[in-house]
Amino acid sequence: MQSTVIAPSILSANFAKLGEEVDQVLASGADWVHFDVMDNHYVPNLTIGPLVCEALRKHGVTAPIDVHLMVQPVDRIVPDFAKAGASVISFHPEASAHVHRTVQLIRSHGCQAGLVLNPATPVEVLDYVLDDLDLVLLMSVNPGFGGQSFIPSALDKLRRVRAMIDATGKPIRLEIDGGVKPDNIGEIAAAGADTFVAGSAIFGQRDYADVIGRMKAAVAATR
Ligand code: DX5
Ligand code: ZN
Repeated sequence: MQSTVIAPSILSANFAKLGEEVDQVLASGADWVHFDVMDNHYVPNLTIGPLVCEALRKHGVTAPIDVHLMVQPVDRIVPDFAKAGASVISFHPEASAHVHRTVQLIRSHGCQAGLVLNPATPVEVLDYVLDDLDLVLLMSVNPGFGGQSFIPSALDKLRRVRAMIDATGKPIRLEIDGGVKPDNIGEIAAAGADTFVAGSAIFGQRDYADVIGRMKAAVAATR
């Protein structure tokens, strides 16, 4: 099991003062910055692109930036995000015609590669590609919006993918995204996640350090 990572999703941040929001959340104990990219095509919402990623780097953000691509096609935008300072780039297999090629493309640009499974995507999509991944991201909501409720079937899926990852013997992260809150993060951690995205649960609170602290304590209690 990898070390615990809390990755606040800036989708729920105040975009009018994004640099400050990211500084604050990192100073409050967050480990990564989760960066949701939506294209109004693969998902019915439109958010931010490489320019904003680059702006955060220029602002001085040194923490890993975890880019979650909800775009189709995928490959065209990968080099732009690598150049903009992305650390991890994850994509949905449904959005790429050649999943293995996209993984190779991400890694050839010096980034870590992740594959994202929607709530209805079977775990078998990981067959033949898991060994080449740095991260598996399981969606516990349907992608497109923050503030949705955690879909309980993600817990069983976490247990299944945890076993698959353990069988590889490789340090592949297992990340969960959607509806993660202080009161359910414990059971999510117990099911096998080590990397936790949380948007509304963190940015919806006044005291980021308090909520991140409570999340980390709840995960630690399961270890
Ligand atoms: C949804 C995004 C999530 C979203 C999570 O498509 O991938 O990262 O910001 O938001 P919460 O934590 O509010 O469910
Ligand atoms: Zn996300």
